[in-house]
Amino acid sequence: MVKDHIDGAIGILTGGGDCPGLNAVIRAVVRKGIDKYGHEVVGFRDGWRGVLENRTIPLDTNSTRGILHRGGTILGSSRTNPIKIKGGITKIKHSLEDSGIGALIAIGGEDTLGVAAKLHEEGVKVVGCPKTIDNDLSGTDYTFGFQTAVQIATEAIDRLVTTAESHHRILVVEVMGRHAGWIALYAGLAGGAEETLIPEFPFDIEAVCRRLRRRHSKGRYSSIVVVAEGALPAEGTSFQMAHSEQVDAFGHPRLGGVGVAIANEIENRTSYETRAIVLGHLQRGGTPTAYDRVLATRFGISAVDAAVAGRFGVMVALRGTEIVEVPLSEATGTPKLVDKAFYEMAQSVLE
Ligand code: F6P
Repeated sequence: MVKDHIDGAIGILTGGGDCPGLNAVIRAVVRKGIDKYGHEVVGFRDGWRGVLENRTIPLDTNSTRGILHRGGTILGSSRTNPIKIKGGITKIKHSLEDSGIGALIAIGGEDTLGVAAKLHEEGVKVVGCPKTIDNDLSGTDYTFGFQTAVQIATEAIDRLVTTAESHHRILVVEVMGRHAGWIALYAGLAGGAEETLIPEFPFDIEAVCRRLRRRHSKGRYSSIVVVAEGALPAEGTSFQMAHSEQVDAFGHPRLGGVGVAIANEIENRTSYETRAIVLGHLQRGGTPTAYDRVLATRFGISAVDAAVAGRFGVMVALRGTEIVEVPLSEATGTPKLVDKAFYEMAQSVLE
């Protein structure tokens, strides 16, 4: 019989950008936590804001039936940063005590789990679950939400290829991925894009145009250029732009706009008809793929197991095909970026 280290209810929150799969984690935590270990499960509304304000909703098998395939999060989310709020950590501790929470499961990306890591240092019994469409969390091969976002972006590219060919156009497709170009790279590879521009490797617009001209000279009059929203031109190149000064509670700039800027620049330099498409929050909406439903469910189950076993301050993670546990401090230290070898692999099959 496994000794149960949770003295009270299991609390759960979903923080940061939403994504398909969140409800699958919630459902798994409820079923494992209640049916297997006999704990109550308490949901906190709207990420860390709900914990600060102690806004809760009891969760059980009935209230989480039929949510496995639903996008978004039944709990709501926010980008509230309690560390930036005076007495925020203390308020969180009081909320957990007042609600009889013996262990907290935080589902989120670098920001949400960065707060979880800080809370662990302050003695809070917390386990993290890696969520983000960006796939930029260290310590895990994949985050849930990523594969669904890649699928959505790839299906969009497949549609854009036919209209680009019909009109002999260059179509620039802007995808999400704040710091990292994983969505752009995977969707570009899957969709057969001619160019993929990502933050890790700043681009030279003249080199992009040169490659487009070369394709035109061979009779290839349409191209897809996939660009990650965080991509920027290389310093010293002839086209420069910067991201917005507006930042969120975690200091992240409001991204968006690079796709239109690049499309205009390509058309100005090549005279090829060029259009821009920004996929934006389409990549975060709707039902999760089967892969993400399974991964999210596995993460939820393993997070409960870790908490029951008393292993706090960890994040459940995917390593190959296995679920492991990594220290929250390791997972939230530096973002997982696309490395040169992977980028060059993807570039090696461009026409
Ligand atoms: O972190 C996930 C993400 O979708 C990023 O890819 C994107 O830059 C950001 O969230 C958008 O945030 P918001 O939905 O708050 O505008």
